[in-house]
Amino acid sequence: MKKRLNDFHNAFLSEIEAALTPEQVRDIEIKYLGKKSDIHLMLKNIGTIENPDEKREMGKIINSTRNEIQKIIEEKREIVEKKSIERKISENHMDWSMPVFSADEGSLHPVTIVQREVESILTGMGFSIVDGPEMETEYYNFEALNIPKFHPARDMQDTFHLVNNMIMRTHTSNCQSRSMEKMKPPLKIIAPGKCFRYEALDASHETAFYQIEGLLVDENINISNLIAVMKILLSEIFRRDVKVRLRPGYFPFVEPGFELDINCLICGGAGCRTCKNSGWLELMPCGMVHPNVLRYGNIDPEKYNGFAFGLGLTRLVMMRYGIADIRLLNGGDLRFLKQFR
Ligand code: DAH
Repeated sequence: MKKRLNDFHNAFLSEIEAALTPEQVRDIEIKYLGKKSDIHLMLKNIGTIENPDEKREMGKIINSTRNEIQKIIEEKREIVEKKSIERKISENHMDWSMPVFSADEGSLHPVTIVQREVESILTGMGFSIVDGPEMETEYYNFEALNIPKFHPARDMQDTFHLVNNMIMRTHTSNCQSRSMEKMKPPLKIIAPGKCFRYEALDASHETAFYQIEGLLVDENINISNLIAVMKILLSEIFRRDVKVRLRPGYFPFVEPGFELDINCLICGGAGCRTCKNSGWLELMPCGMVHPNVLRYGNIDPEKYNGFAFGLGLTRLVMMRYGIADIRLLNGGDLRFLKQFR
């Protein structure tokens, strides 16, 4: 039996020596240590040895041979696995020293950058972000905002009419009634998105531009609440304490309605070209939600009221980065876009 074990051991050594891949090592392991291996048989046959000393000695030798084989297999496995990874790397011609990001990495559009910033400020004040359709019914874009058919206020916004009797939304205010119908007060939402108007293009008019609508409905809301939220929002956006003032402004869906101005960021209020010497910049229309709009949204105006604002996101981006021509924003010119990395 000793000779048999010796031959077995030698056969193993020469096979394992020649093994090159993890698969070969695994086959050798099965052949030399598996249930059907010779060493397993020998171990089983020990019982047939009659001399107890011989029996004990054989048992010892077989076990230590088995342990040695196991140890050699583990060592070999580690070596061939490492080699196989190295082989794969060199076959794929991978250069692990290349930089992960190329110098021609993309960047966010300036509108996206500012939109995310405004979203983060307003969600920080408890507003949730909602989304609305760009292709809209006249009902949500006008009627539910207290602008009936044939009312002259429809002419305030030149509209794209579609062949399916729908329109392209002219403002993000379409999200007002849509949100009121779905959620009950207290309601605090913002709706960022694209709007469309049938405009003649020039440096400050585009057919597609971005707004962020804001709407808050609760009990006992008043104009000071509106001013407080606007002041915090604008101070955060411009990273300085801004002064605001309200002037009356007409929008059918708010009563009273306002144009909100901030003191000029360039001259600080002394008067300059940007503010046309007035010391103020017109920034954001807003107002207290009209009772009719609440009714369209199935909310009782006797119990609830609120405020709304329409932030001109595209305009804000132009102010923030000093972009003089709105057409650059939708132009897709990489020389322009690459500046916002
Ligand atoms: N939707 C208006 C527009 O695009 C802007 C606006 C004015 C929105 C007053 C409001 C608001 O929420 O209260 O001209």
